[in-house]
Amino acid sequence: MQNKIPVAVLGATGMVGQRFVSLLSDHPWFEIRIVAASSRSAGRPYADSVHGRWTLREPVPPAVGRLNVLEVEKDMAKIASEARMVFSALAMEKARIAEIENAYAGLDAAVISNNSAHRWTQDVPMLMPEINPHHLDLIGIQRKNRGWKKGLIVVKPNCSIQSYVPVLEAFKPFGPEKVMVCTCQAVSGAGKTLESWPEMVDNVIPFIGGEEKKSEDEPLRIWGTIRNGVIEPAKKPVISATCIRVPVTDGHLASVHVTFGKKPSREDLTDAIRQFENPLAGLKLPSSPGAFIKYFDEEDRPQTRLDRDFERGMGITVGRLREDSILGWKFIALSHNTLRGAAGGSVLTAELVTAKGYAS
Ligand SMILES: NC(=O)c1ccc[n+]([C@@H]2O[C@H](COP(=O)([O-])OP(=O)(O)OC[C@H]3O[C@@H](n4cnc5c(N)ncnc54)[C@H](OP(=O)(O)O)[C@@H]3O)[C@@H](O)[C@H]2O)c1
Repeated sequence: MQNKIPVAVLGATGMVGQRFVSLLSDHPWFEIRIVAASSRSAGRPYADSVHGRWTLREPVPPAVGRLNVLEVEKDMAKIASEARMVFSALAMEKARIAEIENAYAGLDAAVISNNSAHRWTQDVPMLMPEINPHHLDLIGIQRKNRGWKKGLIVVKPNCSIQSYVPVLEAFKPFGPEKVMVCTCQAVSGAGKTLESWPEMVDNVIPFIGGEEKKSEDEPLRIWGTIRNGVIEPAKKPVISATCIRVPVTDGHLASVHVTFGKKPSREDLTDAIRQFENPLAGLKLPSSPGAFIKYFDEEDRPQTRLDRDFERGMGITVGRLREDSILGWKFIALSHNTLRGAAGGSVLTAELVTAKGYAS
């Protein structure tokens, strides 16, 4: 792409915002022109604002570090006039985030959001790019509904579902009917590190507010059908989720039990994973993983520390497929929560939105 698309990151100082900054700083299609956050961080160079709370191993990209941090709400008109695309990584009251994202889209920005505020808004696509890229057809309906000419909103689903939904998608020919999932979720999913959340060291907390409902309901919207201008969620598989916080820095691991309508063999299922084709492969999107899902034969894989960075944190790893005496089959799946599950998934979504011509 000769002329890079100018972009802004809202909530750029937070855990996910920092990932956006890192992923976008050397992106072949996008160029960060603006970083924005609350009044607490605004009015200083980005490098100063994140000093002492930069969580990534790589340093703050120098060109972004020099940008003056703007205020998401006060500087909205300036931000929307200078950035064609806006990545939202805000953590504030949901209703306010929905209003802010609507306002940016109304000012002609293509809004790609990590937040849950618009995940159930009827004309907003919630995208896992490899699973439901056709839901981008809602953008035309959205623009018509709202009178937007260039603006749009697309959201990313919750980080907890990113590992098991792709595997269940690969298993679709065998008719998954009932799913029981237990997720073991990293502290970065709460915007924290083990240093900033010392209570998590040597500890497991069997509760993550709101997470179980998202883990049960959001996959059904992903597998839903566009009917009469809205997404009609799928009815199957029925999902029951338990979500647990564990003392891991990054990587959400899920233990999944499934009942199928058909009776697949072990070979049927491992073949389905190994032969699952990435439907976006032909588009050559810069953040697309070479291999989307990898199956391990080793009994002790996937592991968070060893496998979360598979395909730059954009691939899914699976293992331990075995028969289950109650539900049929069970397996373990892993995804990187702040890459595939947050900023990386949003950047991939933005690339797809761009490749389909919605951000030109
Ligand atoms: N962490 C994950 O793995 C993950 C995964 C999927 C989705 N998400 C979602 O991504 C979003 C960001 O999560 P996070 O973990 O990065 O949160 P975080 O570390 O707490 O960062 C929050 C960001 O929002 C900004 N902010 C807060 N109040 C604001 C206000 N009134 N006006 C403008 N900006 C404001 C903060 O700016 P200041 O620094 O100035 O306060 C900061 O930049 C959340 O909606 C979260 O649910 C997170």
